[in-house]
Parts: sequence; C-alpha cells; structure tokens
Amino acid sequence: MSRSPRRIGVIRGDGTGPEVVGEGLKVLTTVAEAERFTYELVNFDLGADRYLRTGEVLPDDELDQLHGLDAIFLGAVGDPRIKPGILERDLLLRIRFELDQYVNLRPVVRYPGVQTLVPSHAEDDVHMVVVRENSEGLYSGAGGFHRKGTAHEVAVQESINTRHGVERIVRYAFELAMRPERRRKVTLVHKTNVLTFAGDLYQRVVDEVATEYPDVETDYVHVDAACIYFLDSPSRFDVIVTDNMFGDIVTDLGAMIQGGMGIAAGGNINPEGVSMFEPIGGTAPSETGKGTINPLAAIGALEMLLRQLGEVTAADRVDRGIRAATSRMKSMRAGEMGFTTTEVGDLVAEGAMA
Ligand code: IPM
Ligand code: MN
Repeated sequence: MSRSPRRIGVIRGDGTGPEVVGEGLKVLTTVAEAERFTYELVNFDLGADRYLRTGEVLPDDELDQLHGLDAIFLGAVGDPRIKPGILERDLLLRIRFELDQYVNLRPVVRYPGVQTLVPSHAEDDVHMVVVRENSEGLYSGAGGFHRKGTAHEVAVQESINTRHGVERIVRYAFELAMRPERRRKVTLVHKTNVLTFAGDLYQRVVDEVATEYPDVETDYVHVDAACIYFLDSPSRFDVIVTDNMFGDIVTDLGAMIQGGMGIAAGGNINPEGVSMFEPIGGTAPSETGKGTINPLAAIGALEMLLRQLGEVTAADRVDRGIRAATSRMKSMRAGEMGFTTTEVGDLVAEGAMA
C-alpha cells in the first residue's frame, strides 16, 4: 500500500545551517530509498538573507504553510549583521509558539568513541534526556521598559508559568520515563529555593502527576546543583523536566558532556501537531562556508524527525550511521573531526546502509 508522501518543511537558515541541513538531507535520501518511503521537501527561504533583502522575517502565509506540514527540519537562525533578537524571537521562537511546540526534547547521549571534556565519564554514564518547557516561562516576551534610556530606567522581564503549560510538560516527561528505552526516573530541575512561585507550581504539579505513575521515581535538583551533577555524576539523570530558560542553559552543558555542540540534536515537539527538529548549537559564524562544521547534530535531529513521523526503521538506520561515524572521528568539534562536513555525512550514509 502506498500512502501520500510525507511533507517535510526545510528551513536552512543562517551561518552553517545550510551546510548541515544539506548533509541531513543526503542521509534522508539514503534511508528513504532503503526503506522505500516517499517524501516531499518544501523549502522555505527564511532567515538573515531574506530579512536583509526584503525586511520580512516570517510572513503569515508562510506560517500558514508550516501549519500544513508533517514535520520541519531547521538548520540554524541568527546572524551577526542583524540586531540580536529579531530572527531569534520573530522567526525561531515565533514558530515554536505559533505551532505550539511546547516540548523541547533534547537527548544527551554519548555515542561510541566520542571524547568529552570530562575524562572521568564512561560512555554509559551519559544517557539522559532533557524535557525543556518550550512555550512559556521567561521566553514568553512579557515585560517592558519604563523610563527607557534614562538614569532611572526599569526593565522588567516576567516568567509566565501556567498550570496548563506546566502540567502538560510534566506529563510528557512522565510518559517519556515509562518508555522501554528509559529508566523510569524523572528529575525536576528548578530553583525552588528562590523562585518560590514558579518553582512551587512546578513542584506541586510534579508531586501530583507522580501519584499517577507509581513506577516512576521522582527527584528534585536545583539548577545550579544540576550543573555540578552534569559534570560529577550524570548517570543520576534519566528524564529531566525543567522550564524554558533553565532548559536552554543546561542543554548547552549537556552538549559538552556528550562531546560538543556538534553532536547535540533537539526537537521542538507538538505531540498533536507539527514538530520542528534542529541541531541545538546555532549558526557558528566562524565556521561558515569552510566545510569544517560537524553535521551530526543536524543528522541526529533528522533521526528524531523520522522517529516522530513513525519511520522507526529509517530512524534506526540513521542511528547506526551516526554511531559508525563517531567511532571513526577524532573529535566532535568543528575543524578537529579528522573529516570534512561532507565526509562525515558520507560516513553516516554508508553506516546507515550497513
Ligand atoms: C536554543 C537557542 C535559542 C533558545 C535561541 C536562538 C533563541 O539558544 O535553541 O537553545 O534560546 O531557545
Ligand atoms: Mn540555547
């Protein structure tokens, strides 16, 4: 039986985005052929160049088109020529919010042969997933200036935490912890000793939801202490649930303990809608156009995209490909891989077919 092709939106974006997306699409072609599934790519010209050319960031009709896709594959967004915040807020965050991709799922996995900055870690120690709230918190854009530009200026940036928003992210974390590949532990990471309103809501919701999951162990760690544990004893974490800002910060640290930003993938997930998958590391302006950037984070994001679409055997192929590549690479860091960007893509494609 043939079904209609999956429609995958592609936003190559800025900096090294186009290079790493190119390698992801190369791997997609390979595994789709092997697994005989068909897809259609829908390209979006969004990002810095478009903005500089036309002044447009995300026109409404393109946003509407995004709503109609099966998934979105994104490279990276941001450009030193443009004032910080414009592309980040009006493109990346706008898509996350408008498509209600309320889960930012960021696995922290140590692949075979990958060196990390923490030599005491064994490969098995690093095996967690961060469930970052992706629709509210400090990212909601609530706040403003008062007496801007004067000596008495006031800048307020509010963290919005709704019962609905907190409950759905906490439930997602508990459901994830029950999956066969996980270890049935949920750790709330927050700062309840200082953020006594938002933290209290998160803790109460975790406690309530936990009663429905008697097989899941729950734990709590302050975000500052979590940074220590990431380095000192990462194996204590299985599923971490945390707010938007803390999740942003700890997942950069997570990337470093998995070998570097070059290998850290993530998904902006709306379990009932359209999800968007991206490498979490950004645009890497200093590497742009050199063929030195590591495409594995983007390829890992593609693997997550395939899994979300239910193309499990194709996703498994990508996973085997990534593992085949990492065991041959010298480092996950740009320029130190022992291979070019394209060669790493080739290694994955080859490994995916083995
Ligand atoms: C990330 C990035 C974004 C974020 C920026 C670019 C808005 O740092 O995906 O982690 O803060 O979420
Ligand atoms: Mn970030």
